[in-house]
Formats: sequence, structure tokens, C-alpha cells
Amino acid sequence: MRIGWPFVVLALAVCPAWAGGTTGHDPAGGGLPLVDPATCPEDAAGWEARALARSLAPQPGLPPIPHPADNPPSAGKIALGRKLFFDRRLSINGTMSCAMCHVPEQAFVNRELATAVGVEGRSVKRNAPTLINVAFHDPLFHDGRDNALETQFIGPLVARNEMANPSAGRVIARINAMPEYRRLFDAAFAAPASLDRMGMALATYQRSLVAGGSDFDRWYYGGDETALTEPAKRGFALFSGAAGCTACHPVGADSAILTDNLFHDTGYGWMREQVRQHPPATAPVQVAPGVVHEVDFARIMSVSAPREADLGRYEVTETPADRWRFRTPSLRNVALTPPYMHDGALASLRAVLEFYDAGGPGAPGQDPRIRPLGLSPSDLDDLEAFLNALTSPGIACLAKEARSAPPDNH
Ligand code: HEC
Ligand code: HEC
Repeated sequence: MRIGWPFVVLALAVCPAWAGGTTGHDPAGGGLPLVDPATCPEDAAGWEARALARSLAPQPGLPPIPHPADNPPSAGKIALGRKLFFDRRLSINGTMSCAMCHVPEQAFVNRELATAVGVEGRSVKRNAPTLINVAFHDPLFHDGRDNALETQFIGPLVARNEMANPSAGRVIARINAMPEYRRLFDAAFAAPASLDRMGMALATYQRSLVAGGSDFDRWYYGGDETALTEPAKRGFALFSGAAGCTACHPVGADSAILTDNLFHDTGYGWMREQVRQHPPATAPVQVAPGVVHEVDFARIMSVSAPREADLGRYEVTETPADRWRFRTPSLRNVALTPPYMHDGALASLRAVLEFYDAGGPGAPGQDPRIRPLGLSPSDLDDLEAFLNALTSPGIACLAKEARSAPPDNH
């Protein structure tokens, strides 16, 4: 059964009908090639110094990385953070690392799962966001419940459905018992492992996962007219004009992180709650690649965890107006990080664009800027071309650095 049900979850994830009536195109990941570390020309040796330099110099199209004054970056912290990120011994039973939900070859998301699956197959109700450019996300999580990468990691470490440790202190004790970590903590901090120091190392490593210099950046900020295709240029005109996307995914004069870091009710969360409360009688389940069976929904639920309600920002503030509000995600590298939205139920960028074009579901508290757009199929093609032009070169090098040493599986 444990082998069976994540597959069911996957099948639900890729089914557009179940996703709320929006027509999807590709299945999750839809033939999207993996990020291939082998295509990075850089040497893996000495990567920490490169990662450090990258986190100190602004990347084309991006603002400088906001390093907290009490956690300046260093090559030692980056190397230690990388090792912690890949270490399955950070979970209760040594099975689960951060990198298993934020997979480097999948642009630091998990393309195969709409919503994450933690230790012993336990379901998490949300989609794992990419960690590329996470330095610019403030606050963190879809509901903004944490404010700093230095503290964020405690969440997954002790969440029963993620790494399931009974306490953070237990993890620290385990790490301090390992000589290899003694060396790395000494090199980074001249002190043994502690919760603070672990947070500082993980944060510094994640802040080095920065990537700008997309075709869009080279055109818009670099002035290279040939960098962007004509359809992508038309797509940007729509994005920043008639389609009104920059209201929440802004593009600044000098840089663009493509999120306002605020919370909005796009109607999507409400729409998903309607589907949760009124499930279909049957749902398609992919039993093998390309082989889909319609299965009685009650049978699916008998082997799946029930989907939890998700009230978004309200779960943090308990302010009624925050119900269904979610943090605007950055759109950088978005073409590499399907599936989309906080629960990953939209399999493709086209499905997201169709959601916006339809004006959302017309939910009671929906932001008025989400309204029918009346876009033509070629407008949607142009917008999609623009979103595709937000992919940075250099992602393969982030993956190569991440894989500079084998993960710790013992
Ligand atoms: C079981 C899968 C899983 C594991 C293991 C996991 N994460 Fe995540 N991560 C997620 C999901 C799902 C979210 C979004 C949760 C939410 O918003 O409520 C997330 C969110 C984040 C965010 C916030 C990103 C943003 O843009 O706001 C960061 C940072 C992060 N994870 C880092 C880590 C680190 C570091 C570890 C290891 C200590 C880790 N994660 C382990 C699934 C996982
Ligand atoms: C009112 C603010 C607002 C406007 C306007 C808006 N967005 Fe969004 N966008 C959001 C929020 C909030 C989310 C996350 C919703 C969720 O996860 O439930 C989002 C999610 C997305 C995603 C999914 C990203 C991911 O990683 O899951 C894409 C793509 C996107 N928007 C593109 C656009 C485009 C294109 C437009 C214009 C047609 C647009 N947005 C207009 C706020 C907005």
C-alpha cells in the first residue's frame, strides 16, 4: 500500500478535471527535461568559493541578496549547509533529506508530486516551492508563517509529516556525535553544532542558490534586443499591460523578483475548497505511464489521506480577511517548476494562464484584479513564451554544486 498511494496522489495531481475544471495540457513535468548537472562547464572542485562570490555580487536582473547582519556568508557555512541539506540523518528514521522534496535536478522542487510527501509516506497539504532565489522571499512559506531562512528549517525538521523528529535538540545531539560534522562546524563557526548555527549554515547555502541573467533580463535590463523572441516581447507587453500581472508580480526599474511578497486571494484557494467539499464520483488514476483508469473516488480515499482544508494566510493571522490569501510566488524559472499553485493542482503554465484568462472562479473575496481577460489563444502563447524566457542559465551549475559530494544515506 505504501508503494501504491503516492502514485494515486500523483495521478490526482495531474488530472485537470480533478484540478477544478481547468483544462491542462501536459501532465506534471510534461516531458520537461531534468536539469542536467553534467551540462555545467564549471569544475565541481572549489564550488564553495564560486557560490560565495555569487551570493555577494548581484546577479543580472536581481537585487543584491539581503544577508542578515548577524549571518554574513562564508564558504564554510555554504559547504556545511549543503551537507546538511542532503543528509537523510536529519529525519527521524534516516530516510528523508531536504533535497528529497527540493530536488536539484528538478530546479529544487519535486515535479512528480502536487503536494509533498514526507517520512513514511505522510502527506503534506502543500506544494514544495523552489529554493532558487529563495533569498528574496520574505516572508517564507505559501502562508508566510516564517520570516527567516535561519529559523525556517525547524518547521520541516519536526513536522510529523515531513522529517518527523521528536525534537530539534535530538537532531543537534545526533549531529554533534558525528566527527565529520564536528570538523565542518569548527571550520564554519569554530564551535559545535547548535540550532542557531545549523540555521545559519542552511540559510547561507540556500541564499547561494541564486540565478538571474534570463533572456528577459538580458533584454529588459541588458538592452540586448536580440535576447528575447518577438512572442516573448508581446507576452511581456500583455503581462505588464492589459493582463495586469505586474500588479502582484512586479518588474522594477533595476531588478525584478516578480513577486510583491504580499498575500492575495486569487480565488484559487476558494475554488479548490469547493472541489474538496464536493469531490467527483470518480477520478482518473494513472496506473502506468499513459494508462489511466476511472476509479471510484471512495476507493481512492480509502488508501489516501483525506485532503485537508487550506485557508492560507488566515492560518497564520486568524484575521478573517486573510482567508484564501496566499503569498505571491516569484515567477523566475517558473517554466522549470511545475506543478503550480500552493497545492500543485495546475499541471502546466497553460493551465495557470487559462485560470487567469477566465478571471478565476469569481470567489466571494476574490481580488478584483483577477477578472476575465478575454485573451486569444495567440495571446496565451505569447504570455507563455514570456514566462519561459524567465529561465536562468546556471541552474545546471546550482545542481552540479549541490551534487558535489554524494548525499549521506547511512
Ligand atoms: C516532505 C517534503 C519536504 C521536506 C523534507 C522539506 N521541505 Fe521545504 N518545503 C516543503 C513544502 C511543501 C513547502 C511549502 C510549505 C508551506 O508553504 O506551507 C516547503 C517550503 C520551504 C521553504 C520556503 C520557501 C519559500 O519560498 O517560502 C524553504 C526555505 C524550505 N522549504 C527549505 C527546506 C529545508 C532547508 C529543508 C530541510 C531541513 C526542507 N525544506 C525540507 C516540503 C519539504
Ligand atoms: C492579485 C494578485 C495577482 C495577480 C494580478 C496575478 N497573480 Fe499570479 N499569483 C498570485 C498569487 C497570490 C499566486 C499564488 C496562488 C496560490 O498558490 O494559490 C499566483 C501564482 C501564479 C503562478 C503560479 C506560480 C507557481 O510557482 O505556482 C503563475 C505562473 C502566475 N501567478 C502568473 C500570473 C500571470 C501570468 C498573471 C497575469 C495574467 C498573474 N499571475 C496575475 C497573485 C497574482
